[in-house]
Amino acid sequence: MPHLDDTARFSNLTNAEVSSLSSGAGFWYSKEVGDVPAINLSDGPHGLRKQDTSADHLGIAPSVPATCFPPAVALAQTWDVELIDRVGRALGEESQEEGVGILLGPGTNIKRDPRCGRNFEYFSEDPVLSGELATAWVSGLQSQGIGASLKHFAANNQEDDRMRVDAQIDPRTLREIYLRPFQKTVQAAQPWTIMCSYNKVNGTYASQNHWLLTQVLRDEWGFEGYVVSDWGAVDDRVAAVSAGLDLQMPYDGGIGDDTLTAALESGQIDRATVEHAAARVARISDRSVAERKEGFVYDRDEHHALAQEAASRAIVLLANEGGILPLAQGTKLAVIGEFATAPRIQGSGSSRVNTTRVDVPLEELRAEFGAENVEFATGFTTEGGPADRALVQEAVVAASGADVAVLFMGLGYSQESEGFDRTHLDLPADQLELLAAVLEAQPRTVVVLTHGAVVDLTEVVGAPAILDAALLGQGGGRAIAAVLSGAVNPCGKLAETIPVRLKDVPAFGNFPGEHGSVRYGEGLYVGYRWYEERALDVAFPFGHGLSYTTFEYSDLAVSAGAGDEVIVAEVTVTNTGSVDGREIVQLYTSLEGSAFDRPVKELKAFAVAAVAAGESVRVKLAVKASDLSVWDVRRDGWFLEGGSYGVHVGASSADIRLNGSVEVTEVGQKLALTLQSTVGDLLANPAAAAMIGPMIAEGLGGLADSGDSEDGLGIDMLKMLESLPLNRIGAIAGGAFTIGQIQQVLDAVNAL
Ligand code: BGC
Repeated sequence: MPHLDDTARFSNLTNAEVSSLSSGAGFWYSKEVGDVPAINLSDGPHGLRKQDTSADHLGIAPSVPATCFPPAVALAQTWDVELIDRVGRALGEESQEEGVGILLGPGTNIKRDPRCGRNFEYFSEDPVLSGELATAWVSGLQSQGIGASLKHFAANNQEDDRMRVDAQIDPRTLREIYLRPFQKTVQAAQPWTIMCSYNKVNGTYASQNHWLLTQVLRDEWGFEGYVVSDWGAVDDRVAAVSAGLDLQMPYDGGIGDDTLTAALESGQIDRATVEHAAARVARISDRSVAERKEGFVYDRDEHHALAQEAASRAIVLLANEGGILPLAQGTKLAVIGEFATAPRIQGSGSSRVNTTRVDVPLEELRAEFGAENVEFATGFTTEGGPADRALVQEAVVAASGADVAVLFMGLGYSQESEGFDRTHLDLPADQLELLAAVLEAQPRTVVVLTHGAVVDLTEVVGAPAILDAALLGQGGGRAIAAVLSGAVNPCGKLAETIPVRLKDVPAFGNFPGEHGSVRYGEGLYVGYRWYEERALDVAFPFGHGLSYTTFEYSDLAVSAGAGDEVIVAEVTVTNTGSVDGREIVQLYTSLEGSAFDRPVKELKAFAVAAVAAGESVRVKLAVKASDLSVWDVRRDGWFLEGGSYGVHVGASSADIRLNGSVEVTEVGQKLALTLQSTVGDLLANPAAAAMIGPMIAEGLGGLADSGDSEDGLGIDMLKMLESLPLNRIGAIAGGAFTIGQIQQVLDAVNAL
């Protein structure tokens, strides 16, 4: 947005000085040049990782202690924008205390494939859910005077070859699936900065992709902040600044600044372009300094309590056969698995937070159920290896002597991480062996799962109860104990599908690509869109999650909304059980007879309803026109197709309770008919069909007459000729009309 840039303040700077403003000072600061202040940029996203001195972006060196909130994988399972806004605020407070200006997060890339090593840092396989949650996170954070850095822009959906790989994505898929969460967040929350990704997007590095950083991000979406490179993502500094990159991070010792200065001197790049980059960095740095709250101290206990609350809302009760959960007081528990004593609370890599404290599940379970009722057996070690007979035996003895076994299973810190992808979805074999032994000794076994990305649950589904605890942050231990005892009624729902097997996943044949490029061959069909289209069974569907109560849905009313709210639905949700609960209500849409290739249905709105036992709540769900629109390559723009949309409201993608429909009016640039349009295109346009249809029918009648049967032949001929381009119709119809005549009719129709 050039009009926002105050470039006049740089007129006295030398070429070298103005160039130097578009790269950092060291690892974690922007530069102080002239009257432009330096500010600190530190990792997030789910906690502050401030490292003043060490050159480390892989999370190896220690950082200042901070609250470790649940990473995105778990936050997303809350589907709760109000809660995520509060987490954002808390992150802002911690950043204020530490004098941080920009917190590097959130990550809103789509979970394209469960093998991606960084899925724990991303929200969902669905773009509307991802975009809404990222918006809440950014708004909460920025309300505290701290800038967000929405990342990794764009199409960073794998870690394999992440610094080079070329993500080849067709335009519609790119817009509707991979860019949509970014667009939503930019337009709703204006993050102060956006971080471009390492990879290439359709042939060009994101860091030097003018289409992405300038045309789409600034000119189309109206982004007002600055673009920072991912750490080490700049391949060619001059190309990057020309494309719209404003800040190269970290400082590369001056190589990039010198190259940019030389390019200025030689006229390879305009001084104005470099000044605009400097101005955008300066504007945010000024703002950050103006909003700094010197001496601010956040409340550690309050933040820990928030981390516990977020964790408890993130747990998904996947299965609960026979109502085995919640566990009554006095139940004798055999707690098994090292994750109960050494919980894995977050992912590995640049987001790894040095916690202020950690709730240990075993201690919390002892506090919840009484130490005398809780026995512990290690069972296995979290880093894998062959099953240890003695440990298995000890666990079996503990399980058979208890009323219920609580088995903690999952992936350890080294088994999934930023920087590499998994090659399989398997849980460690020693844990599966242990599970089988424990289940045999104690059928009443509850599995608590720890993982950053999806794991294969084929062998786990034999357990009567399964808690998906993802990665819960430092309050996870308390949250797990509270959910097991029923002090908290679980309410999380899956933000991604759990497939039956790896071979079913949408990107199976196209992941992670080869020789530096990956083709997004599944197109729009990511996550549930794929499984539904192919009618594939899944282990647990997108949006699934049980509760200790039951909810009934009734009285769905659907109407056309006003303004950006194109569809408004209201539904009554009744808590028909005996405990209070929270229900995540989901709204999906479909459009039969669409002119576009469309998934069976797509999530377009959701809401969280807190409903007391026996009570009912009227829940409103609004669909935004921008979310309902498709990217139309013919218009090279968004298009809201008109028609009667199906509206499907339910408790998960596979548990639709009520259906309705609503008429939506088309919005979008009118598509002109040209000589390259087909007979089918023409007949699909009512005005054109009325004007020219009879003429075509007459012209083609001659063809029909030449057939050997009268019966229905004319209609069939028309069907066959639907794909005929209009400029060839005259020739096919034996010269019945000239190109000029057809063009005349088209002009008349296009002018309507
Ligand atoms: C990661 C970013 C992170 C940066 C700084 C990079 O390797 O991809 O997400 O913010 O390092 O640590």
